[in-house]
Amino acid sequence: MSRQKNSLKPWNTFSLEAAAANITVAENAEQLCLSWQLSQRQNEPTLLLGEGSNVLFIEDFSGQVIINRLKGIEIQEHNDAWLLHVGAGENWHQLVELTLNEGVPGLENLALIPGCAGSAPIQNIGAYGVELEQVCAYVDVINLADGHIQRLTSEQCLFGYRDSIFKHQYRDSFAIVALGLRLSKAWKPVLSYGDLKELDPQTVTPRQIFDAVCHMRRSKLPDPRVTGNAGSFFKNPLVSAEAATELQKNYPTIPLYPQETGDVKLAAGWLIDRCELKGFSQGGAAVHEKQALVLINSENATGKDIVDLARIVRQRVAAKFNVWLEPEVRFIAANGEINAVEALA
Ligand code: FAD
Ligand code: EPU
Repeated sequence: MSRQKNSLKPWNTFSLEAAAANITVAENAEQLCLSWQLSQRQNEPTLLLGEGSNVLFIEDFSGQVIINRLKGIEIQEHNDAWLLHVGAGENWHQLVELTLNEGVPGLENLALIPGCAGSAPIQNIGAYGVELEQVCAYVDVINLADGHIQRLTSEQCLFGYRDSIFKHQYRDSFAIVALGLRLSKAWKPVLSYGDLKELDPQTVTPRQIFDAVCHMRRSKLPDPRVTGNAGSFFKNPLVSAEAATELQKNYPTIPLYPQETGDVKLAAGWLIDRCELKGFSQGGAAVHEKQALVLINSENATGKDIVDLARIVRQRVAAKFNVWLEPEVRFIAANGEINAVEALA
């Protein structure tokens, strides 16, 4: 366990200059609990972080940030599947690469998503037609108050679109310590999304899907090592079938994704783009030129710049389409997470 200097800049992919009272890197479950319990005794707030790729620090954090670096990957081969047990602090993309190198397919559509493996269940990461829940076997969570570890099955995680139990019932006082994945030997390529449709399902290999996904992502998403960002800033909104039909009358090219529930998902990036906001800036923050759903730290932005820009984007989209976007990114204030929608109201 090591105590770091208190700048959060290296610990958030927006590269925002924020500070914490202190930063602790935890390498095992015991260190996680001890650090958290120390803060409890001192009555200071705590925040768990993986790689900080889905957080927005709107100001300095007044307490302790605990960075999860619990490592270890075990792969077990069974008759019908490979079972992986992964420490929560492992890097997600490196895990995807490792499995492919070991001849274990199934994670290729989720390549290049930043962050830790243990953070993947929190918002049920998804891309290019696959969501984590399709491969998740279990999640191990620790009760930070008493160190008790509990295993939740995939069903118990209550996965939804960018949602899970870890944003609700298990949000406070719990930390994810490990992730179990089940990758079936009956591998079937998922080629339903974007340019993947052009690949031949009879001959395609997991590696080709991995390469195609990496290529598509690199062509539109900014690399956080170069330009600060947290991926999609807002979630894609769900509207009723009637509302979608109404929008389609006025905007015949609007992308619509009908859901099993009868609701229709809209592409927030398309809505923002049609408000002609690509490249629009506010202070040091801007709407990304190649993907309007991504807000970037273009020039030494502050957290407040990003919030101000997000508020304008949200209001413009509502004024034009009567749809209110909700942030995907988690807003962190001095004492912990705050309600992002309220912060933008
Ligand atoms: P962090 O940002 O560190 O934490 C996220 C939240 O989880 C915080 O509230 C934190 O307090 C909490 N937390 C962190 N660790 C733990 C733990 N061990 N136990 C309990 N709570 C914890 N997401 C997608 O779904 N699909 C994409 O295609 C995608 N593309 C992206 C592209 C870019 C360029 C970027 C920057 C982000 C993208 N994201 C995407 C978002 C992000 O990568 C994911 O949300 C990722 O899972 C976050 O991991 P992290 O370790 O950085 O989490
Ligand atoms: N679009 C535009 N203009 C833009 C951006 C998008 O017209 O500036 C249109 C596209 O042409 C396409 C549609 O909107 O018709 C959807 O765009 P894209 O395929 O780029 O995906 P997205 O809906 O913007 C979602 C996820 C991403 C994930 C991709 C690929 C959310 C909030 N975002 O983005 O996840 O990588 O699909 O599956 O669901 C993230 O969560 O951080 C993230 C990057």
